[in-house]
Amino acid sequence: MRRIVVLGSTGSIGTQTLDVVRRHPDKLQVVGLAAGGGRLDLLAEQVREFGVAQVAVGSEGAAETPAAAKLVEAVESVRPRERFASLAEAFQSRGGKRVGFGPDAVVDLVQLPDVDVVVNALVGAAGLRASYETLRCGKVLALANKESLVVGGDLIMPLAAQVDAARTAAGLAPATGPAGALMPIDSEHGAIYQCLLGENPREVTRLWVTASGGPFRGRTRQQLQSITPAQALAHPTWNMGAKISIDSSTLMNKGLEVIEAHHLFAMPYDRISVVVQPQSAIHSMVEYADGSVKAHLGTTDMRIPIQFALSYPDRWDAPVGPLDFTKLGNLEFAPPDEETFRCLALARTAGSAGGTLPAVMNAANEVAVAAFLAEEGSYLGIAECVEAAMDAHVAGGGGGLQPVESIEQLLEVDAWAREEAKRHVR
Ligand SMILES: NC(=O)c1ccc[n+]([C@@H]2O[C@H](COP(=O)([O-])OP(=O)(O)OC[C@H]3O[C@@H](n4cnc5c(N)ncnc54)[C@H](OP(=O)(O)O)[C@@H]3O)[C@@H](O)[C@H]2O)c1
Repeated sequence: MRRIVVLGSTGSIGTQTLDVVRRHPDKLQVVGLAAGGGRLDLLAEQVREFGVAQVAVGSEGAAETPAAAKLVEAVESVRPRERFASLAEAFQSRGGKRVGFGPDAVVDLVQLPDVDVVVNALVGAAGLRASYETLRCGKVLALANKESLVVGGDLIMPLAAQVDAARTAAGLAPATGPAGALMPIDSEHGAIYQCLLGENPREVTRLWVTASGGPFRGRTRQQLQSITPAQALAHPTWNMGAKISIDSSTLMNKGLEVIEAHHLFAMPYDRISVVVQPQSAIHSMVEYADGSVKAHLGTTDMRIPIQFALSYPDRWDAPVGPLDFTKLGNLEFAPPDEETFRCLALARTAGSAGGTLPAVMNAANEVAVAAFLAEEGSYLGIAECVEAAMDAHVAGGGGGLQPVESIEQLLEVDAWAREEAKRHVR
């Protein structure tokens, strides 16, 4: 039985993770849930269904709402199962409550003893501390929150290597393949992870990250000028949260994934290529020294990569029907249009420069996307805002471009970048 905490349980990835748990109750046990506070009724339902005794809500303000009182009632009605009693006791002994409010409560949740795996499905840089603390406590991190790696990959990957070594020493690692401390949930990275199994990393010549191209593939900048949030939220192949849907449409999501791939697979940027594959049937590919290419295909459903991140090194029964190749039709490939969708090029620039520039890029993107969704900024203004914040950092703002040293430093740079970006929202 793997005991899991799900951060972001009310979101797209969070609810699909819980669906995987529903299908494998003999293998997975939910012991903690966290969400932002926007959907407390759903969180309370999840608490009842899965009998969860420990909950965190990211927003401190949510504590005063009537829905919060109902949530507390739901959690208190759950009696910690005998075998998980130590979990609740440890939390209480640190002065915690079974329902915590505020960002620290989310981090407290990942530190609970008796938790094997933390699924981080928070959105944005808000997930950074949770990813870091999960690995610092020696637990397995199943990571959907790609922003953690974009911002803090330089800190997170060495920690993951330490946890891998500890898992190997404790006999918890599989006989072959990676020890599994950091399991990517992103479908592209889950695909690459699987294409690399059983291979010699020194023989890998290129990673091919596939992209759907988003809802505006083929459009010109002129045609993108008046795009509305509703149009940008309608993704052709994946049903996702609002922020990643906008990122997919601007190709910033692909940029974040290139940086994520660089950290996860220790691959230089000039050997990570993006190819548009509009059917989203090929989830990514790995090219080897002898010219062979391994591709990962599957039904377009996030429950498959989520489940693999939780079942590794095993494979469990599929959560959805398999791909029917007789109905698949054509598979198309095309280069991404980085001139129209400039966010991908900006992300490559930030990743290649390294240090604190990806943190600035990510924070500016979060500000610009939130402004666009609130109809306070334009669609094309997203890339302009990101570029302006990056330029200001390179010119010395926010302490200038620095090597990554600590979480505190990253949080400071992130805060500076958000203020800077607000000045460039158009
Ligand atoms: N959706 C996909 O198909 C997909 C695929 C690959 C990777 N990802 C990545 O997975 C992550 C989550 O994406 P998503 O699409 O699932 O997002 P989402 O649907 O917007 O869900 C985000 C979740 O995080 C919670 N949350 C937000 N801010 C929080 C905070 N400060 N503290 C605690 N909880 C907070 C939300 O709670 P409330 O809304 O209830 O307040 C919600 O449960 C992102 O990094 C995304 O890039 C998503």
